Amino acid sequence: MIIAIDGPAAAGKGTLARRVAAHLDFAYLDSGLLYRAVAALALDLAMSLDDSDGLAKLAGDLAPQELERSDLRVPTVSEAASRIAALPAVRLALVDFQRRFADSPPGGKAGSVLDGRDIGTVICPYATCKLYITATREVRAKRRWLELRERDPSAIYDRVFNDLVIRDQRDETRKDAPLKPAADAVIIDTSDLTTDVVFKQALEIIEAARPG
Ligand code: C5P
Repeated sequence: MIIAIDGPAAAGKGTLARRVAAHLDFAYLDSGLLYRAVAALALDLAMSLDDSDGLAKLAGDLAPQELERSDLRVPTVSEAASRIAALPAVRLALVDFQRRFADSPPGGKAGSVLDGRDIGTVICPYATCKLYITATREVRAKRRWLELRERDPSAIYDRVFNDLVIRDQRDETRKDAPLKPAADAVIIDTSDLTTDVVFKQALEIIEAARPG
């Protein structure tokens, strides 16, 4: 069983996906980490973020342990990940990794949960259940700002909001795998919902989609 959870940044999909995977004892892949890991390596190597071929090579050779780096959520990596995610060659180079994970979940688990932007539309259009998790820009920016502020008390809300708008726009307007709900996805707007309510709604949808 494959569960695809897509949506824009800070909509709550990571929290939900992790919880669903733990509850069902499924394997979990945060696909954003793949783009972040490629971006972090590119920054280490001082590569141009327009070097599509070089970045695609990095993506194709990505080792799973690169996803464990502790610096993948710093703002410079977030910005670089968003930029390289618009490159079709980079996206293509990461397809196999994600499909292998979905189709043969590590640890012999009975299913997988993948979260991202294009899991239900491009990576696993054959997923058993597709959820699209969203929230207003203001709510998402506030959540991201509160998260950042725990690590960096000087984080500024307006900057977080503007970064989010730019990243949303890149995700939504790129030619290859733009962010959008799959035609058969169930959309949950989490703006006014607690994480517990979102989890409960998601489980009901997943149970209804379960085969047999
Ligand atoms: O989800 P997260 O913010 O960690 O993802 C980092 C970046 O990777 C995003 O800005 C997005 O552009 C990109 N991404 C993507 N497709 C995915 C997951 C993430 O384009 N499936």
